[in-house]
Amino acid sequence: MDISVDLAPHNKYNLKLANPVMTASGTFGYGIEFAQLFDIQRLGAIVCKGTTLNPREGNPQPRLAETPSGMLNAIGLQNIGIEALIKEKTPEWVGWKVPVIVNIAGETIEEYVSMAKKLDSVPGISGLEVNISCPNVKGGGAEFGINAESAAKVTSAIRKATSLPMIVKLTPIAADIVAIARAVVQAGADALTLTNTLKGMAIDVRRRRPVLGNITGGLSGPAIKPVALHIVYQVASVVNVPVIGCGGISTARDALEFIMAGATAVEVGTAGFSNPRAALDVVEGLEEFIVSEGIKDIRELVGVARRR
Ligand SMILES: Cc1cc2nc3c(=O)[nH]c(=O)nc-3n(C[C@H](O)[C@H](O)[C@H](O)COP(=O)(O)O)c2cc1C
Repeated sequence: MDISVDLAPHNKYNLKLANPVMTASGTFGYGIEFAQLFDIQRLGAIVCKGTTLNPREGNPQPRLAETPSGMLNAIGLQNIGIEALIKEKTPEWVGWKVPVIVNIAGETIEEYVSMAKKLDSVPGISGLEVNISCPNVKGGGAEFGINAESAAKVTSAIRKATSLPMIVKLTPIAADIVAIARAVVQAGADALTLTNTLKGMAIDVRRRRPVLGNITGGLSGPAIKPVALHIVYQVASVVNVPVIGCGGISTARDALEFIMAGATAVEVGTAGFSNPRAALDVVEGLEEFIVSEGIKDIRELVGVARRR
């Protein structure tokens, strides 16, 4: 049984994962916090909290709201900044078997480039996930990701700055995500993460005010799974790089749906808030499925639902 995957087959460094299950950025800290709870080395990869050039305090509280089958968040990229990440977190990752991917976000192309350069040869980092899809910050973020031209521009600038495997994470709120995916791949992305959160809001009727301090937030969890699945189905058929499915994946069955739609790997996010070992449960569920169906290589399943 082989459930290993390569997320950067065209990159000289590759990005080989022992299995296709990753954690989604912002829902698994720096991995270190979860090492106490279960064997995180059994995961396919860990994507760390979104990191910016300078530390950020994030948005005003409240930042979270529960919704039917999901949640809204407006964290606003609260994080320790790139220098602290390099100094305090990466030394821990060096000894890990599980690859760690650093998620980066910037307000300008120069900020993305500067971070990519700083991370380029830091031991303990296996790849970058470029977030051009955050709905909760004013400058940058999703602004780059809603337009094919700007998405390609930031991607090619980062490509020139680093030889690390580069995954670009897209937003489902773009009018034509297929065009953006094509442009980003042409600009040098090794893989795509599909997708970040949808944009939404909630109102507290007693206070007669929006629940979130930021008014709007990103909707995640099972509520968005059909939307993300459809995007993966569409995009995976037109790009020649691995696609990572993300959005409402809580179980191995969910992960299999994304894989059959064309995803090479998946990320588990919100599910981890109610079950911190959700990603490991997905790994084990996938292993069981592969054995019970007599499949030799998980890659046999990638995109099978698209075949006629
Ligand atoms: C609390 C929270 C924080 C998040 N922070 C980030 C982030 O820093 N960078 C990023 O690219 N995505 C971030 N996301 C989006 C997730 O990585 C993921 O794309 C999204 O939640 C959809 O997957 P899910 O339904 O499995 O949670 C965040 C999501 C949540 C719920």
